[in-house]
Amino acid sequence: MGKANKIFSRNLTQVSKQILLITIFSPMDHDFTSHLMNWHFNDNSRQMPWKGIKDPYKIWLSEIILQQTRVEQGWVYYEKFIKTYPSIAHLAKAKDGDVFKLWEGLGYYNRCKNLLETARKIVSEFHGEFPKSYETLLTLKGIGPYTAAAIASFAFQLPYAVVDGNVYRVLSRYFGTQIPIDSTAGKQHFQQQAAQLLYKSDPAAFNQAIMDFGATVCKPFTPDCIECPLHRHCKAFKDVTVNQLPVKEKRLTKKKRNFHYFIFEYKQKLFVQKRIQKDIWENLYEFYLLESDDTINWNQTIILDFLKSQLGIQAAIIVNQSDQYTQQLTHQQIKARFIRVELIEMPESFKKIDWYKKQKIAELAFPKIINDWLSTTDLFNH
Ligand code: ADE
Repeated sequence: MGKANKIFSRNLTQVSKQILLITIFSPMDHDFTSHLMNWHFNDNSRQMPWKGIKDPYKIWLSEIILQQTRVEQGWVYYEKFIKTYPSIAHLAKAKDGDVFKLWEGLGYYNRCKNLLETARKIVSEFHGEFPKSYETLLTLKGIGPYTAAAIASFAFQLPYAVVDGNVYRVLSRYFGTQIPIDSTAGKQHFQQQAAQLLYKSDPAAFNQAIMDFGATVCKPFTPDCIECPLHRHCKAFKDVTVNQLPVKEKRLTKKKRNFHYFIFEYKQKLFVQKRIQKDIWENLYEFYLLESDDTINWNQTIILDFLKSQLGIQAAIIVNQSDQYTQQLTHQQIKARFIRVELIEMPESFKKIDWYKKQKIAELAFPKIINDWLSTTDLFNH
């Protein structure tokens, strides 16, 4: 990006009371950061009660609550806690039983115990003030690297990057990184990468931006890539691997898996990819794959919506959808459906992919479940 002055183009009607933000990027800054911050300052409309707050007590409380619950549910607990215990001094003085009662339903009661212990320690040893150092925050019970980075950045603008599930997903997709996020190497890689990408002029905004972006745009399942303002720069989008990222070691050993294969056909050629992940069927070939935790009841509308929003396919003919096929492996059961799609035009993102003439398909090695389907399909007749 060089030393260019970067002016985030803001929607001035939305932020008319705010001063146009002019930021000077250092040569270290990355395109990712400028695209993300542009999205954040222009389009991020996610509302949450702890957003933008500088009070470390409230930040800490929200982060501990959010560690074990979805935002919607955590929101209710957060408001109950803040109302009952508006400051750390109030919480430190509370009776254990009352705090546990308020925590009821959140589970992980050890976290509630740590919450009380840390509140009391801050009052007795830090004069009721949260320490302003990342290292000291880490010494407190229940505060790990993620929570320490959240408090340090949101409350004190210290340059620490948070890494949660959203951050893993956003970075692994944008950079097309296949390292499993639940491996030691993966954790190290993404932590370092987030630290490098951090928008040093406003770490709080960067951390909020990347988490909100992961939660609202780069969503876990079938994100709306075509609407995503970063899709032109996203490696996974370009490689058509969004649905395969992030890679998780654990997912790869899950017992029951639902596969949905899309057989894309364009001018008598088929979209075929090699499986390169450290997973079942490594080095075998397959069609475009979507894996889901739950079963999906596909119909014409759902299929067309998915093709449009995720892959930018504007016009297609859904030829047919197969029954369910099952393959039992030693430790996994795979259930697969095959959906044939004839493309009217080639979407941009598909141009880089290998397309095989139908006659060539027989030369490739496929998993048994695909061969089972191939042996029953009339794909080669038309
Ligand atoms: N998840 C946990 N903390 C969050 C925050 N501050 N913003 C968005 N999502 C979060």
